[in-house]
Amino acid sequence: MRLARKVAMVTGAAQGIGAAIAGEFAKAGAVVYALDRSPRLEATCTQICEAGGKAFSSRLDITDHQAYSDLVSNIVQTQGRIDILVNNAAIAYYEELLNSSLEHWREIQAVNLEAQYIGCKLVAPHMMKAGWGRIVNIASTQAIATEATVGAYAASKGAIISFTKSLAVELAPFGINANAIAPGCIHTPMSIVNGVDETTTESFQTWYVGKRKIPLARAGRPEEIARVALFLASDDASYVTGHTLVADGGLTITF
Ligand SMILES: NC(=O)c1ccc[n+]([C@@H]2O[C@H](COP(=O)([O-])OP(=O)(O)OC[C@H]3O[C@@H](n4cnc5c(N)ncnc54)[C@H](O)[C@@H]3O)[C@@H](O)[C@H]2O)c1
Repeated sequence: MRLARKVAMVTGAAQGIGAAIAGEFAKAGAVVYALDRSPRLEATCTQICEAGGKAFSSRLDITDHQAYSDLVSNIVQTQGRIDILVNNAAIAYYEELLNSSLEHWREIQAVNLEAQYIGCKLVAPHMMKAGWGRIVNIASTQAIATEATVGAYAASKGAIISFTKSLAVELAPFGINANAIAPGCIHTPMSIVNGVDETTTESFQTWYVGKRKIPLARAGRPEEIARVALFLASDDASYVTGHTLVADGGLTITF
């Protein structure tokens, strides 16, 4: 029970990596507030509760800053504190530069980057008061090595890594550690692009698996990122801050 008596907030927790993090944290004893705009969230929280965990579903769009602020106030009123924040929710559009829109660029930054900033701003004062806190920001290997058509997404993820470093410096005197995780190819609903599961296509199997472009020769599972998040959210990571932990099966270490 590495998170016993901790109160955690996880964004984008209805499915994929966020749902796995919420489940893992609840299993480790945390009271989890799961945030998402998707109606799937209730089922995810029910599943966590049925497995013996404590998870409350909070349906909201994290770009609605007033709703986000009201929720944080309610949690603090009910629980007295928030110890852990995982900024996980994100979106992606795949568009060539010349066919891309400023609207989509701004939407991506608003969800992936700005909402992380807002979340930190809302929660940090309560962690500072307690003298302990953990912030885990989900970035991506797209921030390190990238490809065509994902400029806005890659830019948002690169900014998350820089933002996390600055946060770590600023919040260290208050007992708050801030770290990022850069997942590689993880099998989640996000890996389904235009109806095609990118982790099962022939080209993925040939290049990433067959040629071991991913040295571990497979896509990752959401639980494998959740366990990294658990480490960073726990006392085990007491001397780790400002770090980006790459969890990609080795994808970014090879040519
Ligand atoms: N799946 C991968 O291969 C992969 C790789 C690298 C990084 N990541 C990162 O991991 C995180 C989780 O990804 P995933 O694959 O589980 O994605 P996903 O699309 O399966 O889940 C994302 C969740 O975020 C929620 N969400 C999106 N916008 C929201 C908003 N405005 N308000 C509230 N909720 C919102 C969605 O409803 C969804 O439930 C993201 O930050 C993503 O960028 C994923």
